Amino acid sequence: MDALNIQNLTKTYATGTRALKGVDLRVKSGDFFGLLGANGAGKTTIIGIMTSLVKKTSGKAEIFGYDLDKDLNKAKKEVGVVPQEFNFSIWEKVIDIIVAQGGYFGVPRSVAMDRAEEILNALDLWSKKDQTARTLSGGMKRRLMIARALIHHPKLLFLDEPTAGVDVELRHGMWKYLNNLNANGTTIFLTTHYLEEAEELCRDVAIIKEGEIVRNDSVKNLIRSLEKQTYILTVETSKGRKPVKGFDVRVIDDATLEVDLHKDQTMSLLIHEFHENGYVVLDVRPKGNRLEQLFLNILQNK
Ligand SMILES: Nc1ncnc2c1ncn2[C@@H]1O[C@H](COP(=O)(O)OP(=O)(O)O)[C@@H](O)[C@H]1O
Ligand SMILES: [Mg+2]
Repeated sequence: MDALNIQNLTKTYATGTRALKGVDLRVKSGDFFGLLGANGAGKTTIIGIMTSLVKKTSGKAEIFGYDLDKDLNKAKKEVGVVPQEFNFSIWEKVIDIIVAQGGYFGVPRSVAMDRAEEILNALDLWSKKDQTARTLSGGMKRRLMIARALIHHPKLLFLDEPTAGVDVELRHGMWKYLNNLNANGTTIFLTTHYLEEAEELCRDVAIIKEGEIVRNDSVKNLIRSLEKQTYILTVETSKGRKPVKGFDVRVIDDATLEVDLHKDQTMSLLIHEFHENGYVVLDVRPKGNRLEQLFLNILQNK
């Protein structure tokens, strides 16, 4: 059974922006799935459509077999969502925000109270239950939204860039909690633009670029394809120098070269070979971060 199944999904906003250009995506029940992509790629739009905050332009979308056009209410019951932006009233108490959400899903107050205690304890927020949300730090607000999303025990949890604004130490605590939740059967769909986050958490990933899925694979395979890293070399001059054997070199200008380093080649070998061929290397730096690097690899191999 698929937790999520999207076929040929498109979204064109009223402004004319084509945010999704025919997306196909399947997420297996029980998966920890990551949707990776740069800002503006279409990640939030997909979550918006799946949680019925955004109206799709065309295509088919299902949650646990429920078609969003036909069985929206059934689909909604299975889903929890942690949005990218904080969207609770900062004047309400933590416990009230969570119990009210339970009410929205038909969870009786006494049941919601018990669940809230359990979830808030696990998220290290129980001591804050009677404080207004405005007194919480950014990381606590994010965890409050996770607690609120879980009160009706959804089978599928959407997390839109969950670690944005959460500092590094707290990030690991949150990751542990999410891993545990997934191990206990909740399917998780998260978006991120950190490859490291996907690496740490996800089993399967898709990469979205400008509204199109450019890769859909296991994290293992994805990382394996990061076989080559591009570096920018600053040299005194490349005029009249011989090509360096064994390396894929592109001349950007007289003093700037782009070189691909395969995973079986070392940086010292690269420097050595350039020196041997009469180059004076002044600086070496990686081109882009690892996610950008991965994009480059993927697009070159297409
Ligand atoms: N409400 C909206 N109206 C118009 N354009 C939008 C709206 N929401 C998002 N967009 C545009 O759609 C594209 C995808 O946005 P989004 O799904 O938020 O990307 P991501 O979450 O990957 O950063 C972007 O070009 C963005 O500017
Ligand atoms: Mg977004």
